[in-house]
Amino acid sequence: MSLLDQFSEITQADQPLAPLTWMKVGGLAQYLVEPRTPDELQQVVEYCHAERVPVHVLGGGSNVLVRDEGVSGAVIRLTSDEFARVSVNGTVVTAGSGALLSNVISESVKAGLAGLDTLVGIPGTVGGALKGNAGGRSGDIGQFVSSVTVLTVKGDRFVRKEDELSFAYRKSSINELVVLEAEFQLKAGAPDEITQRMRKLWIMKKASQPLASQSAGCIFKNPRGLSAGALIDQSGLKGARVGNAEISDRHANFIVTHDGATADEVLRLIDVVRSKVAEQFGVDLELEIQIW
Ligand code: EPU
Repeated sequence: MSLLDQFSEITQADQPLAPLTWMKVGGLAQYLVEPRTPDELQQVVEYCHAERVPVHVLGGGSNVLVRDEGVSGAVIRLTSDEFARVSVNGTVVTAGSGALLSNVISESVKAGLAGLDTLVGIPGTVGGALKGNAGGRSGDIGQFVSSVTVLTVKGDRFVRKEDELSFAYRKSSINELVVLEAEFQLKAGAPDEITQRMRKLWIMKKASQPLASQSAGCIFKNPRGLSAGALIDQSGLKGARVGNAEISDRHANFIVTHDGATADEVLRLIDVVRSKVAEQFGVDLELEIQIW
């Protein structure tokens, strides 16, 4: 019995992951599983646990690089509307794991709620954003979270409240397999002002980042007190290429992939950057993106 037999309506074998990621490179998922409801997701997770099938959960694909060899086991995507609900109750916004962060931001702003607007322009889903505490100069998602509902690798579901969670720079204590839902505590504000603020941030971002190109956002975390982008830039690496992977000339912490690029080329370019920055500045850059 395989996942394909057990969950035939929601499972496809040997599916390309490249189109599901922003870098558009990498190999196949042995099984791509798209559960329709939280209960079905729980059954899939329980099955995989019992059968020792490795599980990966793919969010918006904006912060992940899939190796050319692909991924064995199950890659789960939460694409059904069931996982993408967003609701507003007073100053609390509740969002499903699969909801796009951009959608949660616009629903909050429409309701006159401030906070998440500082995350404007960050791609991906709520689940992915929470796991990696997505953010930027103006704040991160963790600071607005009041609770999350999670599902463990064994298939247990429970709620973790604010005081049981901790968030740091691009890091969160949510180590369960899936975030099912999250609640955000926001503050009332004037929609016009919020929109104005958002517009400014968005213009700054567009001016400094290659948002029109294929990339996974920043590749490396900023080392404490330093900027990875500035270090890579000062190493003279803007425009450096391995095959069809290139260091953006707009922002050096972005690798853009051109047609025909492979994950291996991106990985080799990452190695070039690491060695050059280590040699020139004695700094070991740590990856921000996930490599599968
Ligand atoms: N810089 C350069 N050359 C470059 C890029 C940057 O000299 O090629 C300099 C800039 O002039 C600036 C400094 O480095 O003085 C910092 O650059 P920037 O303001 O662009 O911010 P960042 O630290 O590189 C961070 C986040 C971004 C987020 C922005 C804006 C990290 C690794 N990056 O970038 O997040 O969008 O702030 O809030 O924390 C991401 O996580 O994928 C991401 C893009």
